[in-house]
Amino acid sequence: MTATILILNGPNLNLLGTREPDIYGRETLATIESACRARGQGLGLDVDFRQSNDEGELVTWIQEAPKAHAGIIINAGAYTHTSVAILDALSAIDMPIIEVHLSNIHRREEFRHHSFVSKAADGMICGLGGQGYELALDALAKRLKNNG
Ligand code: DQA
Repeated sequence: MTATILILNGPNLNLLGTREPDIYGRETLATIESACRARGQGLGLDVDFRQSNDEGELVTWIQEAPKAHAGIIINAGAYTHTSVAILDALSAIDMPIIEVHLSNIHRREEFRHHSFVSKAADGMICGLGGQGYELALDALAKRLKNNG
């Protein structure tokens, strides 16, 4: 059976393309989704790509992940820096988790330097734009293969 990776995107990532292009570039979330699907296909992975502006919806999706998904890639947007609820949900499930950020959060404002998500993630990729999601898929494919 083909493993499915859940790719979660948090608040305001639906605005990519027009949102602060100096920081986030001109790539839309739909373009990133297409690239992930193509990369997933090459790796033999299905991709379930989602976005929500709602913290509770993200928590519910994380809780449900073990039913249908083999790993998670998460860009929690601003909730990265605030959400103990997302950290708790990620800590409650047992699967590989890779955190992604388009921008280099360590080069930006001090309040973006701390990530609650990192406390539950196996690895983190930031500053490489949409390419970070594809690299995260590569990493998950390798982990799943090694454990499978
Ligand atoms: C972001 C970085 C966060 O600090 C910010 O709130 C976002 C996007 C990124 O992908 O670079 O919404 O997660």
